[in-house]
Amino acid sequence: MRFLLKGLAGHPLHPPLTDATLGAYTFATAMAVLSRLGVSEHNTATAWWLALIAGLIVTGPTALTGFVDWLDISRGTPLWRTATFHLSVMLTATILFAITAGAGHGDYVDGMVSGGSLILTLVGYGVLAFGGWLGGAIVFVHGMRVLSLVDEPTARAVSPMPHPEKEEAEGG
Ligand code: HEM
Repeated sequence: MRFLLKGLAGHPLHPPLTDATLGAYTFATAMAVLSRLGVSEHNTATAWWLALIAGLIVTGPTALTGFVDWLDISRGTPLWRTATFHLSVMLTATILFAITAGAGHGDYVDGMVSGGSLILTLVGYGVLAFGGWLGGAIVFVHGMRVLSLVDEPTARAVSPMPHPEKEEAEGG
């Protein structure tokens, strides 16, 4: 159960899930722009809406794994404040994309992204990008879940098998 929510030491689950989420929303945003530019308008409008739905679906496990990691952070620390800021911004982005998908269902049916839907998509994407920046600060500035085992032999570094030095570096 712990593995399903947190991954392994050195191989957390949240970061790869964020790639899928950010990828789906990035694709949706590109499709909305292309549709408005008249590039294969009907197809790109369909792809835009379906990619938004895919993004919203994959946001579930992404947010859950991030939340489980967040629960392990000591309250009130700078890391906790950055992570809580990240949580709030990602929730805002998710709500914006949910509103966009809900309000944009008619555009999907009509095969045409309206100006309002494009603006909502772009605003959601801007908020998402800012949340990603904050996620980067959690990992690359605060160093959360980073083991920094520079001299770890490659076979042990990439192995999915638990190794004591990895568990120890993660504080487990
Ligand atoms: C749409 C949902 C979310 C996305 C796209 C997202 C994105 C990211 C990104 C890009 C990182 C940096 C990791 C990397 O660069 O590989 C990160 C880290 C992190 N995020 Fe999120 N995040 C989301 C939701 C959440 C939520 C709801 C929480 C709960 C507080 C959260 C907590 C964390 C934590 C604790 C980290 C540090 C690394 C880790 O624990 O795996 N995230 N997130």
